[in-house]
Amino acid sequence: MGHRAWTLLGLTRDVSGDGDWITATLAGKSVFVQRAGSRLGGFENVCAHRFYPLRIGKRGNGPIRCGFHGWLYNADGTAVGIPICEEMFGRSRREIDRRLDKIDVETCGGLIFGRLSGPGTDRSDLSAYLGDMAPALAALTDGTAECLAEIDQTTAANWKLCYQITLDDYHLPTVHPDSFGNAGYLKPNTYRYFASGRHSAMFTGLFVPKAEFARWIDACRNGVLDDKFYRIVQIFPNLVVALFPYEGNWFVCVSRYLARSATETQVRSWILAAPIADTVAGKPQVRVGALDYIGRILREDSAVAEHLQSIAVQISKPPLLSRQEQRVAWFDQAYAAFMADPGE
Ligand code: FES
Ligand SMILES: [Fe+2]
Repeated sequence: MGHRAWTLLGLTRDVSGDGDWITATLAGKSVFVQRAGSRLGGFENVCAHRFYPLRIGKRGNGPIRCGFHGWLYNADGTAVGIPICEEMFGRSRREIDRRLDKIDVETCGGLIFGRLSGPGTDRSDLSAYLGDMAPALAALTDGTAECLAEIDQTTAANWKLCYQITLDDYHLPTVHPDSFGNAGYLKPNTYRYFASGRHSAMFTGLFVPKAEFARWIDACRNGVLDDKFYRIVQIFPNLVVALFPYEGNWFVCVSRYLARSATETQVRSWILAAPIADTVAGKPQVRVGALDYIGRILREDSAVAEHLQSIAVQISKPPLLSRQEQRVAWFDQAYAAFMADPGE
């Protein structure tokens, strides 16, 4: 993946207290994000001494102290404590002047995004990268939203095979016959797709007007998730955020598709209570049902991706994409353009 895409590292709720940290993967590298007061800092998870990982595990709290030889770093990533420094190195720690490699970290709503720092990376910030999707993500993932569950799933398939399935509505009756697909194929005039730069969205509703995307973004900007329709937004390159109902209650599912290797994808999903006033996501049986439902859909899609991976070497022609695979085509175009010029 190119280095200048912003990708999801985690949720702000996991680093809400001073000194809280989480680890994540960014462009194949281990990184961590840590709160220092009101600021979030992000670093490559590699000690500046002999490259030991500073953070081990998913999350924790405390100063940045290396577990190998005990170097201590401040919130800026500068080594401020080097045990018996003069004796070991013949120099003061100021003369040694070692620091951690920083990454760019910004938030949108309850989501933390990161990007490798590098020349030219200050040209566009996260809100420019997200464009119209920024107010939508902020409204959907309000940092105070309750997180019902975090689901980790490993799929033996390339991340793009996994991600493309999320952009495809044509498979719903065949792959998800008991959930999404139980009403058969989506009828014309009950959904509409929207492209927004590299990102895209799918809205359901009867005769969704063309102007509905702009209207919804405006409502989100005003902090009002007032509607009662299924919405899904795909944030390039590997993030999906869906607003969905389950037994009359509304949930938000945030899923990130992370390449572990060319043929393995880690899908992490966070299920949040939707910030819609009259939702009663608190009912235990509703929660269990909603989590079951999401879990089943993720497993069904994962199985399809694995089967596709099993014949991936035989995929040699461009696919024939249907109307209900419009967003796959948009994604493929955005991906090709991005790979040709990741700095764009
Ligand atoms: S590797 Fe971190 S202190 Fe030595
Ligand atoms: Fe699916």
